[in-house]
Amino acid sequence: MRIVITGALGQLGTAMQGALAKHDLVLVDIPDWDITDPQSVPRMAGLKPEVVIHCAAMTDVDGCTRNPDLAYHVNAFGTQNVALACQQAGAAMVHMSTNEVFSGNASLPYREFDTPLAINPYGASKLAAEQIAARLLHKLYVVRISWLFAPGWNNFVSKIVALADKHGQLQVVTDEVANPTYAPDLAAAVARLIQTGHYGIYHLVNEGYCSRYEFVVEILQQSGREHIPVKPITSDKFQRASTPPPFAPLRNTIGAELGITLRPWQEALADYFAERSG
Ligand SMILES: NC(=O)c1ccc[n+]([C@@H]2O[C@H](COP(=O)([O-])OP(=O)(O)OC[C@H]3O[C@@H](n4cnc5c(N)ncnc54)[C@H](OP(=O)(O)O)[C@@H]3O)[C@@H](O)[C@H]2O)c1
Repeated sequence: MRIVITGALGQLGTAMQGALAKHDLVLVDIPDWDITDPQSVPRMAGLKPEVVIHCAAMTDVDGCTRNPDLAYHVNAFGTQNVALACQQAGAAMVHMSTNEVFSGNASLPYREFDTPLAINPYGASKLAAEQIAARLLHKLYVVRISWLFAPGWNNFVSKIVALADKHGQLQVVTDEVANPTYAPDLAAAVARLIQTGHYGIYHLVNEGYCSRYEFVVEILQQSGREHIPVKPITSDKFQRASTPPPFAPLRNTIGAELGITLRPWQEALADYFAERSG
């Protein structure tokens, strides 16, 4: 299959390359290929893809709060261009989205059919992207994920390990809850999903969820740093530009109906550290 991957050089795009290696891949990323350039529409359609995996995005959540116009420019308008290219080429699109499309005021993990309500510019721009892609395309998979990590990338896990080594102690919030998601597991699940033709909304996250605090306790334990003290704090004590949804874990019900599930996040974290040390 001819598959275009946008944001191909990012954390997920790189994992997607591994999971889809047997296909005819076309890798697209800035600076050579900017999805916000309207000319990218005919250019991408001209590649005649059968599937476009759309990973490109402005993923700096705090940066999106500081510059919402740029967040909409890249995440919403850029996605519109990718969706139009898919429309012209007759390609299926996989739009990577986020748990931050939800408000986080739930008491149970969100299902695929729950009503989204974003509470920050990153989530709002990603929700706008979901909506515009859904208006333009029938052959659309929306894949929501959260707290992505992969070896060799700057992510929450690598940052916590670095901060633990630098400061010898940590303070971490208890009132932000989601699903740690291992990029290679997600990429393998997406590779299976695109074979189904079962278009719709998916929550493809590793099984289980936790608070940032619980995630850090597990990171320290698995990396041999369990002696580092971690103080639980609430988010009003942690200054950042963006307001994350407090309780926004995702529940994979539709993927599970198709037999597409991801293993528990703690097992995936063990593989992350094995890969990192190997
Ligand atoms: N990381 C997470 O925890 C997380 C959670 C939920 C959802 N997601 C979603 O998952 C997807 C992949 O995330 P990721 O962690 O792999 O992000 P990433 O590592 O930041 O990768 C995104 C890629 O897109 C590129 N890009 C940015 N603007 C572009 C543009 N205008 N045209 C073309 N390419 C552009 C980036 O280039 P530069 O690096 O040069 O900017 C980067 O290579 C995104 O849609 C994100 O919203 C991620």
